[in-house]
Amino acid sequence: MDVDRVSIKDTLGRELRDLRISVTDRCNFRCVYCMPLEQYEWIDRREILTFEEITRLAGLFLQSGVEEIRLTGGEPLLRHGLDTLVSALAGLGGLKDLSLTTNASHLKEHAAGLMRAGIGRVNASLDTLSPAKFRALTRRDDLAGVLEGLLTARLLGFDPIKINSVIQRGVNDDDILPLVEFSRQNGFWLRFIEFMDVGNSNHWVSERMMPKGEILDLIHARYPLEEAGRTDPSAPAVNYRYADRKGNIGVIASVTEPFCAGCTRARLTADGKLVLCLFSDRSLDLKRLLRGGAGDREILDTIRSAWEARTDRYSEERLEAMNAGDYEPGSHRKIEMIRIGG
Ligand code: GTP
Ligand code: 5AD
Ligand code: SF4
Ligand code: SF4
Repeated sequence: MDVDRVSIKDTLGRELRDLRISVTDRCNFRCVYCMPLEQYEWIDRREILTFEEITRLAGLFLQSGVEEIRLTGGEPLLRHGLDTLVSALAGLGGLKDLSLTTNASHLKEHAAGLMRAGIGRVNASLDTLSPAKFRALTRRDDLAGVLEGLLTARLLGFDPIKINSVIQRGVNDDDILPLVEFSRQNGFWLRFIEFMDVGNSNHWVSERMMPKGEILDLIHARYPLEEAGRTDPSAPAVNYRYADRKGNIGVIASVTEPFCAGCTRARLTADGKLVLCLFSDRSLDLKRLLRGGAGDREILDTIRSAWEARTDRYSEERLEAMNAGDYEPGSHRKIEMIRIGG
């Protein structure tokens, strides 16, 4: 056991362990389930944290118990010079895992540099293998670029490479088996994600959310599966292995099987706001402290008090309300997904 490990617990006894850092809210895609096309105000460039500011904050989070950092966006590869940030983060003591979530459209040109700089794992979004449907879902025409990005990362030796597929009933549920076959053939770890009511304008309705049970039944009928559990107790995905041992899949069932009880994740937005739940409408402005000249102790105390006061369990509350028949997706304001990085 790690005797020196700092452990800050929230009101539900959950430790602060993971930090998701959004490095930009810009994205070259406009996915229908993520982008609030009409109502979104982009973060002013002057408000975006510099690499030095991100690295200083990341160091303070590591002193607060964080062991794993994931870089997100928007699309993180749109942030110029990301390798430089990755190298700086990789050099921080105590970091056990440094990973990236990307749409993969620019992965081909960046994968080698990212690996050299210290990215250990890559997760990429891909919801369909049909070019027409890809265009409809992302409102961009770059399926070929995404596939090239994925294959380049694999050739370089990133392992695992996880593919995140958000499944919407009647939209891309017929892509489940083609995605399974593609991933089995190419050695990717596919994860299906239940469509979530993130942000304020993705028109979420429970009928469009395909539950984990249905997704698994469909795959199991063609490729028998055995449950393998979570990689660690705080991981969003439950994993399954194919009975023929040709790889793994996972399902992130935030709607039907919420995992708030094990949630050890904090989020830092590109403009330096600390957010404690994916569905939160509140944030704490760490940039104001940074740029106001606060010392490390003051920032550490702010992080600690925020985490210790944390009560968030949105997905559990949503399920309770859905079961009681009184869930209104639009009744609760949320920070947009594109700003919070998933
Ligand atoms: P691994 O470390 O590889 O397991 O990555 P991850 O699943 O934690 O991160 P990724 O960025 O690939 O996210 C996959 C999906 O899980 C996205 O849709 C995220 O929004 C969702 N997700 C990640 N963390 C949480 C969480 O704390 N709560 C909820 N509800 N969803 C989450
Ligand atoms: N529901 C589920 N997952 C979503 N993502 C974005 N929007 C949604 C949503 N409404 C996923 C993306 C990406 C990850 C960061 O979040 O597919 O893989
Ligand atoms: Fe799509 Fe990800 Fe960009 Fe959102 S951030 S529009 S999910 S590629
Ligand atoms: Fe954590 Fe909020 Fe997701 Fe629950 S809904 S797992 S509290 S981020």
